[in-house]
Amino acid sequence: MSVRIEGDAGRVIGPVPRRLFGSFVEHMGRSVYTGLYEPGHATSDERGFRGDVLELVRELGPTVLRYPGGNFVSAHRWEDGVGPDRPVRLDPAWHSVESNRFGLHEFAAWAEAAGAEVMYAVNLGTRGIQEAADVLEYCNHAGGTELSDRRRANGAEEPFGFKLWCLGNEMDGPWQVGHKTADEYGRLAAETARVLRMIDPDVELVVAGSSNAGMPTFGEWERTVLRHTAGLVDHISLHAYYQELHGDTESYLASAAALDTYIATAAGIIDELGLANEVGISVDEWNVWDQRRWNAVDQARLAEGGWREHPRIIEDDYTVTDAVVVGSLLSSLLRNVDRVTMANQAQLVNVIAPIRTEPGGPAWRQTTFHPFRLVASLARGVSLRLDVEGERLRTAQYGEVDLVDVAATLEESGRGAVFLTNRATATPTEIHLRLRGARFAVYGAETLTIPGGATRHAVNTAAAQPVRPVPLPGAAVTSDPGGTTITVTLPPLSW
Ligand code: AHR
Repeated sequence: MSVRIEGDAGRVIGPVPRRLFGSFVEHMGRSVYTGLYEPGHATSDERGFRGDVLELVRELGPTVLRYPGGNFVSAHRWEDGVGPDRPVRLDPAWHSVESNRFGLHEFAAWAEAAGAEVMYAVNLGTRGIQEAADVLEYCNHAGGTELSDRRRANGAEEPFGFKLWCLGNEMDGPWQVGHKTADEYGRLAAETARVLRMIDPDVELVVAGSSNAGMPTFGEWERTVLRHTAGLVDHISLHAYYQELHGDTESYLASAAALDTYIATAAGIIDELGLANEVGISVDEWNVWDQRRWNAVDQARLAEGGWREHPRIIEDDYTVTDAVVVGSLLSSLLRNVDRVTMANQAQLVNVIAPIRTEPGGPAWRQTTFHPFRLVASLARGVSLRLDVEGERLRTAQYGEVDLVDVAATLEESGRGAVFLTNRATATPTEIHLRLRGARFAVYGAETLTIPGGATRHAVNTAAAQPVRPVPLPGAAVTSDPGGTTITVTLPPLSW
């Protein structure tokens, strides 16, 4: 198998926004409690922040963190998580008991320790304009009002200054608490946006788009919601989760092509409304997620276990195959930086996450940790448009796609990165890549693939983490006055 890839340093898609490498912390399962927050854990500080988790998060490098949900936010009262009195409440979204021991101030401090910006979501499910205005005033107003002084009394003298605000979550989904029609939501989002801008003109607002490309309302939802909110919002969200269904590995490996199409369709609607220069796409939940397990195992566990604090839910063990798909989804985001203004992998700790923990025990890197870490640290500068020619992969769901998925970035300093995914599961693929106008003098090549003696289902566990990047031998990189040529053979099923 072989593939030729051609590019030119001058063929730029757009600058790579640092916010492309966001992540997500929801009050769900063990994401917060016994995830990133565990008072009494051997590595925790006096605030209960697990040091081992913080260390891994810093290594992973998420730039922006969406909080506090997700579906959780649609029945959440933000006031419960501030001040000395923390009421215990039912969380209907995840059939759980929420202690509120960890809330707004704790998250602001934790995000600062992690080195990431906060993207705060307001409840437009059970609540509305007033509560959204209140939480913004509490967070961002300097002082001299009841709400801002309450924040100061609660220990934060300086405003948090959160810039990014999500207007609710997945309001198109019938599963959402306070689910709405596009018109109902569009009106509410517009009026909420208007008052948020009055309170703090510097905020950037994200209106909720579709929960997935298969929603029957996808398209019409975006049109309606954007007609209501045009001129008031800066981004529209898309959520996208992928999984391997019915043993159809080829389609699963082609998920990035599906994400490309999803983004292109949403971008087409933005263009149709004349909003191309005003509204970006925020892919603020994306990942691989075995939702059959959620339906069959976790939901039953929730029902049988009754109302409990931080139940163990959707703690997917990610395989090599999952990591390869995650790598290619990151490449899809890079290929779409002319439209995608930010993105958040969902989620960060324990819940469909790159980082896992055991209560009182260790924290470790899942297989999917590695592509995220590498892309977040290497993809800088601009993203380049590349042409791929050669073998194709036939898939049941998405027709033919390139056998090798690719994205590349280039910095002004001349430092570049090329991200390649070999979707061939049984054979290596030879790559011949010519990049005109960029000369690489030194290089390094690594791959994430099936470890020796293992299968494509290999996972990392608390006890052993065999799946990690290893040096990729045999890459040849030569530069000449016209550019750089890279030849390399990618192992079967590799990123
Ligand atoms: O990330 C898990 C859940 O998936 C989120 O709460 C919700 O927004 C989405 O459906």
